[in-house]
Amino acid sequence: METRLLDYLQRILNSRVYDVAIESPLELAEKLSNRLGNKIWLKREDKQPVHSFKLRGAYNKMSRLTPAELERGVVCSSAGNHAQGVALSARQLGCQAHIVMPVTTPELKSDAVRALGAQVILCGDSYSDAYLHALELQKKHQYVFVHPFDDPDVIAGQGTVGMEILRQHQHPIHAVFVAIGGGGLISGVAAYIKAVRPEIKVIGVQMADSNAMLQSIESGHPVTLPDVGLFSDGTAVKLVGTETFRLTQELVDDFVTVDTDAVCAAIKDAFEDTRSILEPAGAMGIAGMKQFVAQQQLQGQDLVAITCGANMNFDRLRFVAERAEVGEEREALFAVTIPEERGSFKQFCEIVGQRSVTEFSYRICDEREAHVLVGLSIRNRSEVPEITDDFASRGFVALDLVDNDLAKDHLRYMVGGRSPLVGNERLYRFEFPERPGALMRFLSRMHPSWNISLFHYRNQGSDFGRILVGIQVPADELPDFQDFLATLGYRHVDETANPVYRLFLR
Ligand SMILES: Cc1ncc(COP(=O)(O)O)c(C=O)c1O
Repeated sequence: METRLLDYLQRILNSRVYDVAIESPLELAEKLSNRLGNKIWLKREDKQPVHSFKLRGAYNKMSRLTPAELERGVVCSSAGNHAQGVALSARQLGCQAHIVMPVTTPELKSDAVRALGAQVILCGDSYSDAYLHALELQKKHQYVFVHPFDDPDVIAGQGTVGMEILRQHQHPIHAVFVAIGGGGLISGVAAYIKAVRPEIKVIGVQMADSNAMLQSIESGHPVTLPDVGLFSDGTAVKLVGTETFRLTQELVDDFVTVDTDAVCAAIKDAFEDTRSILEPAGAMGIAGMKQFVAQQQLQGQDLVAITCGANMNFDRLRFVAERAEVGEEREALFAVTIPEERGSFKQFCEIVGQRSVTEFSYRICDEREAHVLVGLSIRNRSEVPEITDDFASRGFVALDLVDNDLAKDHLRYMVGGRSPLVGNERLYRFEFPERPGALMRFLSRMHPSWNISLFHYRNQGSDFGRILVGIQVPADELPDFQDFLATLGYRHVDETANPVYRLFLR
């Protein structure tokens, strides 16, 4: 066995995690197993004391500190599960934890960390600002920095999840599915599995809009992403670790990428089997596994998904419930163009036939044709082309909107529609931290001659807001507008060329 793998095996076997962590159960998900035709096992890390696996790595690292180091205290930067893992470990070891969180951190999370006895320092707008401040504190006070993933003792602590899986399931396992953020969990799990039962596949799961590890593997070195999607906050990492990159590159068999809808559907799957609610990162393993089963047409295999966290904000559930239907491929959304003439509406309804309509929006706007936004219940995605063909056979053009975020996040909730007054309008979707002042910051940075011609915001219970904005910018001011977008620093998508915009709003 390679020396480094042996080193990790020893570190994992000698990990001291059970002072704070439980040996989480490995449970058969019966409904999901029946649906997928494979035996699906869930490794329930969401049942840990702070509802995620992160206390394993943090405690393993901190339990190895000298009395003098413990006396000086530890520091970390995190707005999420790592913060709680470090705070709980510090309480257990009688040491002071200093946790730097961005000022945008919801109070719910900072309060949870304070309740565990840690000192919370709010600093900066982003995780990177908080990280830099934590490094300053480390230097100034000689605190020990507890990294969320790129540390052999943290990786080894997370590796105890892999050790437990193999001990709990001694029969063949085809593959284990692991969510990746910075790569600590998958590195530890893969190190143990490849040392002990290398025939078991370890599959990494990443979000499509936050896939730093996958891009790094493809480039052959760690790459920094300019921005990442925030839905799965537990895995929203712009730069993976050096050690976690090395281990993942060497040991992980394959990767799958999942989107927001698939993760929402996986949260529902887990709920139906366990009556527990996972956070997005916690359900990524299930989402990736479902995709892998479909791609590889697997049947009759034993598959394990690590359900690695359950720190879900309650008010996010509305968004998750809405998107789960699309993610489960039980709802299709179309924009259908029909002639604005007697009888064509009846024909449209005949095509829809027995299918149940989940949503319907229509607004007269033209003497010749009408555009209808319609949601339909379906059994699976393969029905979509059939429905599109049905519409086409009657001369109706139907646009499949199932992958169109503008339609799913905003358009379906909007009233209003076209305006004859929208010369020079550009349409953008923005994501920004949900906190007072964020909108004012946006408005105050805008050039006074640019007019906001459309605005849609709906609170979807996230830590970040989503808005859709139409802005009228004269052609000769477009370079200034591009500068404005760049300095604003909010994640944005230009939707001006989106066909739904042309059909319903323009
Ligand atoms: C619930 C959850 N899942 C997955 C991850 C990603 O873990 P890693 O950074 O070790 O890849 C995290 C990280 O905080 C998490 O909290």
